[in-house]
Amino acid sequence: MKTLIKGGTVVTATDTYVGDVLVDGELVQAIGTSLESPEESTRVIDASGKLVIPGGIDVHTHLDMPFGGTYSVDDFETGTIAAAHGGTTCLVDFAIQEQGGTLREAYDTWRGKADGKAAVDYGFHIIMREYSDALGREMGAMVDEGVTSFKLFMAYPGVFYMDDGQIFRSMQIAGDIGATICMHAENGLVIDALVEQALARGNTEPRYHALTRPPEAEAEATHRAICLAEMAKVPVYIVHLSAAEALAEVTAARGRGLETFAETCPQYLFLSYDNYEEPDFGGAKYVMSPPLRDKSKQHLLWSGLKRNDLQAISTDHCPFCFNDPEGKLLGAQDFSKIPNGAPGIETRMTLTFDGGPAAGRISLNRWVELTSTSPAKIFGLFPQKGTIAPGSDADIVIFDPNVEWEIRLDNQHMRVDYNPYEGRRVRGRTETVLSRGEVIIENGDFVGQTGRGRFLKRKSRHED
Ligand code: URP
Ligand code: ZN
Ligand code: ZN
Repeated sequence: MKTLIKGGTVVTATDTYVGDVLVDGELVQAIGTSLESPEESTRVIDASGKLVIPGGIDVHTHLDMPFGGTYSVDDFETGTIAAAHGGTTCLVDFAIQEQGGTLREAYDTWRGKADGKAAVDYGFHIIMREYSDALGREMGAMVDEGVTSFKLFMAYPGVFYMDDGQIFRSMQIAGDIGATICMHAENGLVIDALVEQALARGNTEPRYHALTRPPEAEAEATHRAICLAEMAKVPVYIVHLSAAEALAEVTAARGRGLETFAETCPQYLFLSYDNYEEPDFGGAKYVMSPPLRDKSKQHLLWSGLKRNDLQAISTDHCPFCFNDPEGKLLGAQDFSKIPNGAPGIETRMTLTFDGGPAAGRISLNRWVELTSTSPAKIFGLFPQKGTIAPGSDADIVIFDPNVEWEIRLDNQHMRVDYNPYEGRRVRGRTETVLSRGEVIIENGDFVGQTGRGRFLKRKSRHED
């Protein structure tokens, strides 16, 4: 089956031109101008006036994730369908090692959650909760399976937290086997002390989540993560960077030539500490870690994105319902019991288009680079994913840059009972989505099949 996408403005990380894209089966076959339909059966899609971009890649999602005594409410079916609606055709989720469990068990469990359910392609990072020599050996086995990155936590003592020695040993192995370390950089021991003190004073409302996780706790941990990675000779990727103070650490490290990478997320670009002040426990909708920061510093994240001090925008999609005793209400009397995380897998592309190129903050090419090409390169998916080029997977989004619409709960596909951007007017919307050559979103409707998404074996740095 061939598909010809005609007359759109093709945007990659490097080029912008009006052209045609010919898809043969699962792959892009040719790009040109005035390409003819090679066969009568060729499907022709008129993309004039639209952007034709590589499918979005979200390298930070938590589907069907156990957390704080509950589970994130999107599974691999609902989450990947919502992703597709929003123009994301590939994601990298986190498989979690159980305390005392093996990495293989984590991998098998997450394959079990995703295989046969996902509507778009997916890979995994593995969250390690501890280090031992046996687990270190298993890291190599995971790389052989195509799981080439490991997330470690400097936060959440007693849950995910690893001490510096364990982090350092894991980093050394990762460096040896060509893997990348993803780091949740917040000083968890300091945060736990602040949380205990806040609760002792009777400060239980959602805003204390942010007030007990100051920017300095993120900046200090970011600095330490970078130093540990330098000593261990491994690339480090700081996940969900929210604080300008942490960004300054990344900028300094990159200035010294270190392989330090960082992502931020739409919530840190568009929402702020003020959201925690929403009445009637409303601030709980935004309880995530790191927390939302001061609005006055957001422009620094945007300039980090522009200058390549930040290399990716992902979502940290981790949805918990608001009006749910198993969701955000778990923390109705105590902010520290509110499950951490917020939805965003569906709104990333449109929000960052609206706030990025449409607002003149970054170019169209940089938008594509941050949301697709650069995460594909960092995490071993390029050039199979992350660009439109002959031989690449035909993961293609036809995006209408001119339509203006309102983000609302009643037009979302994520399985959660609120949208953090409720009522926000945005420019740009995903219209049609191809995943490996198959149209899965057509004029805004999902027409694909669940279970068609494939597990992606990602390359290690030694294979690049
Ligand atoms: O609050 C967050 N970020 N929840 C998801 C887990 C994590 O740390 O990424
Ligand atoms: Zn994290
Ligand atoms: Zn996360």
